[in-house]
Amino acid sequence: MGKVIAMANQKGGVGKTTCAINLGGALVALGHKVLCLDLDPQANLTVGLGIDLNTVERSISDVLVNADVPITSIILATKTAGLDVAPATIELSAAEVELFTAIGRELALRDKLAAEVVGAYDYVIIDCPPTLGLLTLNALVAADGVIIPVQTQYYALKGVAALLKIIRTVQTRLNPSLKVLGLLPTFYDSRTILGRDMLESLRDLGDHKVFTTVIRQSVKVGEAPTAGVPITVYEPKSDAAKAFLDLAREVLHAQ
Ligand SMILES: Nc1ncnc2c1ncn2[C@@H]1O[C@H](COP(=O)(O)OP(=O)(O)OP(=O)(O)O)[C@@H](O)[C@H]1O
Ligand SMILES: [Mg+2]
Repeated sequence: MGKVIAMANQKGGVGKTTCAINLGGALVALGHKVLCLDLDPQANLTVGLGIDLNTVERSISDVLVNADVPITSIILATKTAGLDVAPATIELSAAEVELFTAIGRELALRDKLAAEVVGAYDYVIIDCPPTLGLLTLNALVAADGVIIPVQTQYYALKGVAALLKIIRTVQTRLNPSLKVLGLLPTFYDSRTILGRDMLESLRDLGDHKVFTTVIRQSVKVGEAPTAGVPITVYEPKSDAAKAFLDLAREVLHAQ
């Protein structure tokens, strides 16, 4: 059975989408079959994997609001063999509003990620929007594990505490098997005192695993989405590609 991992943090711009694409790419490079699922109306994951939004006929919003649209009917192949995408479009924000009044609204994604979808992949990676709304909640309910990217350039721990609180509620009420796989330091710059301080205070938090791998700030990582491929394809020998491979190995061992 495939493992479902949510990439979540309600803080914007912390690297959720980048880490979803590149963890996906690294798992593929290690021989696994991966589905990246875009749960953000901004659709950055979909575009970053080289999909032209004008060609997307049906997306995750159709899946969430229509009982008769299965995820399998929206999945697209990307330029990277072994890496598929379940695309989002801007219509997902309307779908979230529509979902709000539905019975079992927190369970919509979990119900659709049925065994035949999850079973076809080794990993399903869900990219969450920068909110703690119904979409992120759906991801947390559908997931086996959650990774929390945390930018190490400012003190962002207050926001993480709010997210961890919601995760605990989800674990108690809706999804007891949800695990926090770890906090993932992003945008790390070892040359700044703030970066080093932030990393230290993250590790001092103590309650949750912090990945040994840190994702550094890198021009190549910012560029790769314009080519529609993960860094492991765009620049396979780069330090950034190696970091995402290290992260993938940590995730494999966390299971
Ligand atoms: N390690 C990195 N090095 C350089 N640029 C990065 C890195 N990680 C992300 N970026 C860039 O920073 C911006 C924000 O990253 P990203 O979109 O992954 O964050 P996000 O948390 O998904 O944002 P949002 O909350 O809006 O969905 C993007 O332009 C991305 O290309
Ligand atoms: Mg994003």
